Amino acid sequence: MERSQINEILEESDRFIRSFGYILPPFAYWSVEEMRARTGADAGDIRANRLGWDITDYGQGRFDDLGLFLFTVRNGSAADLAAGRGMLYAEKIMISRDKQLSPMHRHNIKAEDIINRGGGSLVLELFTSAEDGSIDPSAEVVVATDGVVRRMQAGALLKLDPGESVTLMPGLWHAFWGEGGDVLIGEVSTVNDDLTDNVFRDPIGRFSTIIEDEKPRHLLVSDYDTWL
Ligand SMILES: [Fe+2]
Repeated sequence: MERSQINEILEESDRFIRSFGYILPPFAYWSVEEMRARTGADAGDIRANRLGWDITDYGQGRFDDLGLFLFTVRNGSAADLAAGRGMLYAEKIMISRDKQLSPMHRHNIKAEDIINRGGGSLVLELFTSAEDGSIDPSAEVVVATDGVVRRMQAGALLKLDPGESVTLMPGLWHAFWGEGGDVLIGEVSTVNDDLTDNVFRDPIGRFSTIIEDEKPRHLLVSDYDTWL
């Protein structure tokens, strides 16, 4: 993706999120220089726990069809998770645009509640894992949705309207997209590690390759290792 496109998506997404009354934390608006100056000392966990902007086209260069906007608002640490106490949780705010696919994947560690916070409907395609972790094409899918357990056929589509959510346990395969409009999505989960805990069905990247055609408005999480 070109940096100019990312800058544009940052701005559009911020406007969309604010339209629902959700405001991102102050560090979202730090400039590159401010981020550089502050992530050394008092803002170390922003870098270490990979908080912040995350725009991905899954490396395929077709953001409108295959992509996701994410902002990691909070995230605990692998050390706490290993210790079994402390900050074991994470929160993201995301946007799936109308008919914009987030491709089929699962997580080894992370359980995640995916919440439709407003806008269009969110459609999820779901499969259970086979013993070897691959997609089981026939096993029933059982998920909790706001206190109601739903049993569905393999590959069934679960439609969440604003206010509705689903709990996806580790190993449950899922792909999702917006329908009838762009969707603001909340994610409340176990500690999140996007470098190691995404298993995609098809060979695909988690992050974008960026062409630097203008200055970044804000850094993405995937920029931290090279820019800070
Ligand atoms: Fe996921």
